[in-house]
Amino acid sequence: MSQSEKLYEGKAKILYTTADPEILLTVYKDDATAFNAQKRGQIQGKGAINCQITAALFEWLGSQNILTHYIDCPEPNQMRVKAVTIVPIEVVVRNIAAGSLCRQTGLPEGKILASPLVEYYYKNDELGDPLLTRDRIFLLNLVDPQRLPEIDNMARKINQNLQSFFDQCDITLVDFKLEFGIDAQENLLLADEISPDTCRLWDKHETDPQAKIMDKDRFRKDLGQVETAYQKVQQRVLARLKQWR
Ligand code: TMP
Ligand code: ASP
Repeated sequence: MSQSEKLYEGKAKILYTTADPEILLTVYKDDATAFNAQKRGQIQGKGAINCQITAALFEWLGSQNILTHYIDCPEPNQMRVKAVTIVPIEVVVRNIAAGSLCRQTGLPEGKILASPLVEYYYKNDELGDPLLTRDRIFLLNLVDPQRLPEIDNMARKINQNLQSFFDQCDITLVDFKLEFGIDAQENLLLADEISPDTCRLWDKHETDPQAKIMDKDRFRKDLGQVETAYQKVQQRVLARLKQWR
């Protein structure tokens, strides 16, 4: 690709400029990290799998009138996206208690929440992505105050759509993380990725609490069969998308 320059390298993706200033190229890596990169490894084929899953989900969400930064995939592990300014807030939506929610509140893992919980974390690796309050978001000027309800509504709408999509894949959407960006026309767009790296996904075909895990918790907890689980998610998501198309 001409006029390509590395803009940013994150833990799971590299971002390049393209000849068109309004378009960036994201290359998904096989590298895996957890616990703010204290644990490192590789998941064979993860880059392409996560790129294809994200593309499928963004295409589906786009059809449900949710604006995303997704354009297309020139290669299995590459995604062209609209250039946006990323809002430095990681939005986590939870349907079932797991992970840090259980550690920090004592709720038992697997407890179905009466209504979805939307949480905000500061996207800042040096600080370890701490949990934010509304007032801290405004104190730190992380986003325009009127944007926060827009982000909250969009996150809830994405959750409804993804829950029903994954349900039809026989997968329970436990929780997930979203990032948002603002484009040159001041539109709020869903950005980054939605993949087994950024979601907790439980297989409805399995009852065993470890066997049902289809996401990065397999890597975080050394459960093995990480690639197989990611491939299974990809197969089901792509099959569902094909049906819908
Ligand atoms: P948590 O329970 O560890 O707070 O994670 C909640 C969800 O957010 C889970 O689906 C994994 C995802 N997540 C990320 O995508 N990136 C992160 O850095 C963290 C901590 C969680
Ligand atoms: N994404 C974070 C890391 O790379 C944390 C995680 O996903 O567990 O360290």
